[in-house]
Amino acid sequence: MPYSYKQIISLPLREKLFHFMKNEKIYHVIFAEQFNRDVIDRLCRIADVLRKIAQTREGQDFLRSLLAHKSVMLYFTQPSTRTYLSFVRSCQYLGMNYANVRDPSISSFSKGESDIDGVLTFSNYFDLIIMRHHEGGFAERVAYLMNDSRLKKANIQVPVISGGAGPDEHPTQALLDMYTLCRSFIWRPKKVDGLHIGFMGDVARGRTVRSLSKLLTRFSNIKISYISPQELKIKEDLRKWLDRQRVDYYETDNLNELIKELDVVYVTRIQDEYDTGNESSDLDYSKFHLSIDDVQKMKEEAIIMHPLPRRQELDPNIDFDKRAKYWEQEVNGMWIRASLVAFIFNVDSNILDYYTLHHSH
Ligand code: NCD
Repeated sequence: MPYSYKQIISLPLREKLFHFMKNEKIYHVIFAEQFNRDVIDRLCRIADVLRKIAQTREGQDFLRSLLAHKSVMLYFTQPSTRTYLSFVRSCQYLGMNYANVRDPSISSFSKGESDIDGVLTFSNYFDLIIMRHHEGGFAERVAYLMNDSRLKKANIQVPVISGGAGPDEHPTQALLDMYTLCRSFIWRPKKVDGLHIGFMGDVARGRTVRSLSKLLTRFSNIKISYISPQELKIKEDLRKWLDRQRVDYYETDNLNELIKELDVVYVTRIQDEYDTGNESSDLDYSKFHLSIDDVQKMKEEAIIMHPLPRRQELDPNIDFDKRAKYWEQEVNGMWIRASLVAFIFNVDSNILDYYTLHHSH
């Protein structure tokens, strides 16, 4: 298998992170661990500025001029609404042309073409690949493929952003969640530092939980609680990461014992698309539903998050509570993704300069 990259993949993460960098800057976005505090802060700052610039027609014209010479391929083989659409909109704000393959059955994949050959093709036509794939390690492999110096094609190297890698990782969701935390707790002197976050639901297979947990370790005095059924507790690799980062975490199946303490209740749906048998249907998930009664017990200044889509685990009546932040998460996702794409193509400074010139008086 010439494109398996087995050897690199088996290395510990810290030894392979440099493969995702170019000129000492993030280039491919595969793992949440790639983002340090400085980069997170910068991306949030750019996102804040972007949304202000975009409020005027002139501002939008300026933003569209930034990457009008670049194009993006959205390759999404797993279902998606928000991640896909927010990436489309963010690339449109930056003036990029885009195309997609979402249904492999109407592309040459249905003639037996491999995913790898498909991606090689995309990289010949586009300047950026954003992808969501059911195979956990696929986006990582594509990053190595793009870097592969054995390939003698022109223009082969383009950056790759993962928009969800099987049950493993969802780094840009972690960024938008972090951005939401920063905006929601702007009134706290130290914003995210010192928060107690409770992840509730399928914390084993919820990739948003996994990626955000990793990003949270970049902040100080974070406390994390995982509230889940016995069968869906966090996996060993995340536990090891938390231990290594010396994060204070706690596991329970009872929301009630914590609800008064939590600053954030992050609800997730059961990820039954990853079932191998009937494990989800045999489970009573109702204990992990957030009700209006639960919300009444929460702190006044706490917030409720959910990556969406939701099912019964989050009562729609909660939408009217000021602590509900999930619709804001959606919007924040568009701006932080625009910020990330601008950062990767090195136009982030242009955005900040424009803002200083036109807005800061
Ligand atoms: C999540 C995902 O795809 O992992 N959705 C999203 O990207 N907003 C969460 C989910 O599907 O439950």
